[in-house]
Amino acid sequence: MSEAAWAAIQFTVNGQQQSVTAHPLTRLLDVLREHLQLTGTKEGCGEGECGACAVLLDGEIVNSCLIPIVQLRGSSVTTIEGLAKNPKTKALQEAFAQCGGAQCGICTPGMIVAAWSLLQRKPNPSDDEIRNGLSGNLCRCTGYTRIFESVRIAAGKLPKAEAE
Ligand code: FES
Ligand code: FES
Repeated sequence: MSEAAWAAIQFTVNGQQQSVTAHPLTRLLDVLREHLQLTGTKEGCGEGECGACAVLLDGEIVNSCLIPIVQLRGSSVTTIEGLAKNPKTKALQEAFAQCGGAQCGICTPGMIVAAWSLLQRKPNPSDDEIRNGLSGNLCRCTGYTRIFESVRIAAGKLPKAEAE
């Protein structure tokens, strides 16, 4: 990548203003993990297929492996670290712990981001809505039963987040 195209991009991550100088096509995933040391967001496929790298961008769930930093100017990003510190996610964290929904370190952060996003849009989702809401997040090993059950248990227990 040519250094001539590098620029400082300002945006917010988990409520903190950040300024990152990088090539405009640097992936948000790499910005988080390598520039900001927020390693909770994981890389699975690197191609937008698995959801392991899911974060919230201005409140919408996105796969951070597909987002170039140039798109972030003035935006607000929330990662799994931001959700972990947010007391409003307590019931969701507890549900994943109680039901064994946190099965591995690769898919779980993205699953929780997707579950939070779903429950913000649909506080009491049906089983189909849970399946659809997490359909962008793949588990390649243990299966979805405990993950879906975790979301069922957390349903109706989460307060609404402030606008991001
Ligand atoms: Fe981004 Fe798989 S690593 S979707
Ligand atoms: Fe994480 Fe299956 S890939 S539990």
